[in-house]
Amino acid sequence: MWTSPAPTRIVVPDLELRAPASRRFATARPPSSHYRLVSVSDADHVELVPDYAISRVINGCWQLTPDHGGGPGSENEILRTFAELVDHGFTTFDCADIYAGSEEILGKFRRSLPDPHSIQIHTKLVPNKASLHELNDRKIDAALNRSLQKLGVDQIDLLQYHWWDYDVPGIDRLTRRLLHAQNAGKIRLLGVTNFNTKHLQYLLDDGASIVTMQAQYSLLDRRPERYMTGCCAEKNISLLPYGVLAGGFLTDRYLGRASPATMNRSLQKYRLIIDEVGGWSALQHLLELLSGIATKHDTTVDAIAARWALDQPAVAAIILGIGSRSRAQQNVALDHLQLDDEDRQSIAAHLETQAIPPGDMYDLERDTDGPHTKIIKVNLQDANERP
Ligand SMILES: NC(=O)c1ccc[n+]([C@@H]2O[C@H](COP(=O)([O-])OP(=O)(O)OC[C@H]3O[C@@H](n4cnc5c(N)ncnc54)[C@H](OP(=O)(O)O)[C@@H]3O)[C@@H](O)[C@H]2O)c1
Repeated sequence: MWTSPAPTRIVVPDLELRAPASRRFATARPPSSHYRLVSVSDADHVELVPDYAISRVINGCWQLTPDHGGGPGSENEILRTFAELVDHGFTTFDCADIYAGSEEILGKFRRSLPDPHSIQIHTKLVPNKASLHELNDRKIDAALNRSLQKLGVDQIDLLQYHWWDYDVPGIDRLTRRLLHAQNAGKIRLLGVTNFNTKHLQYLLDDGASIVTMQAQYSLLDRRPERYMTGCCAEKNISLLPYGVLAGGFLTDRYLGRASPATMNRSLQKYRLIIDEVGGWSALQHLLELLSGIATKHDTTVDAIAARWALDQPAVAAIILGIGSRSRAQQNVALDHLQLDDEDRQSIAAHLETQAIPPGDMYDLERDTDGPHTKIIKVNLQDANERP
């Protein structure tokens, strides 16, 4: 049985935003979620809230976008990969309004199923940064309705939203409007993505019914451990990490190799994180350690990296990108893999020596003077609406 950790108090730095005495958001959180592992298929599932279970490995669909160019090629191939994952019990998918084509193809796949309710689709609402200041209820409703229509559903299972710039007012408006949509039945559960701890806590203190936070979390990027995991434990928020394999860097493929000369956008993004923790040699030291543990368990480096993330207390489920080939069988093996005390201790000892990227969640990515911001596309919602 997998249970959430005992709550710990956290101190959020520089919390100049204070919640007013009366809560501004009318909706109460769904009943407290005490994680329960439920057995519905081959793959481990976990209840995010009572009566809503997801697979502990979520199928990430960013890799399917033309912009990324990493996933299976044709639509038929993608649909076959989806079916194979679901057959093996990996029933939960992560997509976004800004992952071009992902909601449409998931909608098509869902309609093809004998029981469309056998899968769970998590999408995102990511407003355009350039017009963030102009976001109003009409635009929010339109974005939400587009996602509902593309997915072919009356209700979105989990809607995760993002806010690019905390200096631009509007998070409250967006939150209030999404809570309104939740009350109207268009959204089952609400989550956020790439929020820092201060702003997530601010919304939660005001009674926003947020149940998940999607963020980068891996053996290379342990920023969540600075403040966010404490907040998650205290406020009963499930962390849904991406970047668990650092776009493929945390696999056997890069052990003993030089840093690649050409990289897709995903690898560029994670390569910058590697630089934050000590550079290519730091990655090699980590890979050597993971490779030794993998050999002992007769498995692969990516399985050890993924298992480590799954075992972290705040983590309900991890998101693994749908790669160029199906990894359903590998993911089943991952569910059965157990790290022992010796593995955990050697990983912990190594992590003591490895830097953690600076700041809170997504601070680096929001720093307009730094290198991380440059590879992030911030105005994709509108672009996605072009024919
Ligand atoms: N909220 C956000 O800002 C955000 C950002 C990034 C991602 N995400 C979400 O997270 C998902 C995962 O993206 P990511 O960036 O974290 O990528 P990732 O899962 O770290 O890396 C995926 C890549 O690793 C390789 N790989 C090796 N072993 C694998 C295995 N067992 N399972 C899956 N892939 C394996 C695959 O490459 P090959 O197939 O080429 O070998 C695949 O393209 C995305 O699809 C998206 O849903 C969210």
